[in-house]
Amino acid sequence: MPALRRMVAETRLHPADLILPAFVREGITRPVPIQAMPGVVQHTRDTLRKAAVEALEAGVSGIMLFGVPEDEKKDAAGTAGTDPDGILQVAIRDVKAEVGDELVIMSDLCLDEFTDHGHCGVLDAEGRVDNDATLERYAEMAQVQADAGVHVVGPSGMMDGQVGVVRDALDTIGKEDVSILAYTAKYSSAFYGPFREAVGSSLKGDRKTYQQDPANLRESMRELALDLEEGADMVMVKPAGPYLDVLAEVAASVDVPVAAYQISGEYAMVEAAAEKGWIDRDKAILETLTGIRRAGARMILTYWATEVARNLSAGRG
Ligand code: PBG
Repeated sequence: MPALRRMVAETRLHPADLILPAFVREGITRPVPIQAMPGVVQHTRDTLRKAAVEALEAGVSGIMLFGVPEDEKKDAAGTAGTDPDGILQVAIRDVKAEVGDELVIMSDLCLDEFTDHGHCGVLDAEGRVDNDATLERYAEMAQVQADAGVHVVGPSGMMDGQVGVVRDALDTIGKEDVSILAYTAKYSSAFYGPFREAVGSSLKGDRKTYQQDPANLRESMRELALDLEEGADMVMVKPAGPYLDVLAEVAASVDVPVAAYQISGEYAMVEAAAEKGWIDRDKAILETLTGIRRAGARMILTYWATEVARNLSAGRG
């Protein structure tokens, strides 16, 4: 009996559990569809504002912004990422003007969208990511994003010491109230594939030297302890679906809110199979999100956030 099942369900999804990741691209006049993510677009500044309002109206609790600069603005240091008039900073201001403090505004704090080589940091003379030089860039990036009005920054580059450096940088300019969502366990995953198209990434190689090996769990727990020590306010596991055990372990061992990021490839798999008529799209979406909640995520970043929040509010959960 559905009413009874509903009553005794151990896991519930609520619109406020959901955070919408959104892409905004500089220099376009119309949204550009992302081929590998049917239904997701690179927004113009205008359509991003609309998407933020729609998410808010649907009951979604936050939006995570990614900026896509014009190609000619990419360089080795990713300077567009720290330009106060760079696309991400502009987008933060736009969304803030539209929704104020009603929706939690979050920003990706990483250089990969802004570097011409596509890596999450700056490179040394041998072409390897230079951890400490990158931290200086992140500190500056945190400050310009905070100045633009962001509520939460999400350092996602997996550099050692990034959370501490970002916390210091924010405190130095009096932005103690800007929170840090740390990408604590970020695995080197094949499921980031469609994201590369979404942000027009120039990456040629891979991120194996700074992202985690899918085989490891204890390593994530070590990263977790470091992030908390350095001042993370919230922690994240990413991707979500293939790492539910990591999520459960993290959730069981911390008292800060835990987020999971259902990434581009997880989205694409369901959409592609549904398009072929091989699975029931709506049921599959809810099942993936319920699984992530059941494993212990307080919040879920998902490209389906607005749609699912609407359905949940309409009682179609
Ligand atoms: C780094 C970043 C990535 C994603 C979010 N932040 C890409 C990566 O680390 O390779 C992936 C998100 C997704 O695949 O949906 N800026």
